Amino acid sequence: MRLKNRVAVVTGASQGIGRSIANLYAKEGAKVAIVDINVAAGEEAAAQINAEGGTALFVSCDIARRSEVDAAAAKIKSSLGPIDILVNNAGITRPAMLHKMTDSEWNQVIDVHLHGSFYWLQAVVHDMIERQWGRIVFASSSTAQNGSIGQINYAAAKSAMLGMMRTAARELGKHNILVNAIAPAAATEMTKAVMTDPKFADAREAALKQHPLRRSAEPAEIAPAFLYLVSDESSYITGQVLSVDGGSMMVR
Ligand SMILES: NC(=O)c1ccc[n+]([C@@H]2O[C@H](COP(=O)([O-])OP(=O)(O)OC[C@H]3O[C@@H](n4cnc5c(N)ncnc54)[C@H](O)[C@@H]3O)[C@@H](O)[C@H]2O)c1
Repeated sequence: MRLKNRVAVVTGASQGIGRSIANLYAKEGAKVAIVDINVAAGEEAAAQINAEGGTALFVSCDIARRSEVDAAAAKIKSSLGPIDILVNNAGITRPAMLHKMTDSEWNQVIDVHLHGSFYWLQAVVHDMIERQWGRIVFASSSTAQNGSIGQINYAAAKSAMLGMMRTAARELGKHNILVNAIAPAAATEMTKAVMTDPKFADAREAALKQHPLRRSAEPAEIAPAFLYLVSDESSYITGQVLSVDGGSMMVR
């Protein structure tokens, strides 16, 4: 077991990529906190891990609110112990062309990705410094590099997460706290519209023809990269962005 007795927080772990990460971390011996606003799915995800012999705790928390993050972190520490691993994975999209985007659409995306990640960084970092061990992984996106039509809010947020990640990596390296990012691509609720809506059929077909693997991924294919970056095997990797997208970014 590669994460035996580590305490891991995975935000946005009620479904999708986050849930796969939580499942895999639990299988590798970590005590996992599933942090999400989706209570029903989160409780179900935690119950499934516990039923399979792992240890998981669901904590309802809107990561865009500092008070909720601080309360969640306190609950996790008192129930599971000091936090060793943070995965800033929770995310949302509010697509609109830039000339039509509302302040609300802009703010919601910035609030979740940027403020949420920042609040969680601050919530875990003191204990990690004290213990001279920590692993932090951000879920970024190829959008950070390429932009994305109709997603100026999301592209801005995902790019800014990389700035946060690199700064945290530089500040925290001397404390044996490693900070990296993954740019994933997988079939989830978030990508469902693009994957299934008939109006995107032509774009989908064109993208698939260019895709080196000619297929999309399941979340379970993304999670092992998140395991690698928090395991002892990645002890000399920090400040990096790993694309786990079947090579699709390479051909854009
Ligand atoms: N799926 C992809 O292809 C893809 C591509 C690039 C980046 N990403 C990123 O990977 C991460 C996971 O994406 P996914 O596809 O699994 O998405 P998803 O929509 O399936 O899951 C996101 C989870 O985040 C939770 N969440 C949303 N807002 C929250 C908040 N304020 N507080 C707490 N939890 C909140 C949701 O309830 C949900 O459980 C996201 O950051 C996403 O931007 C995904």
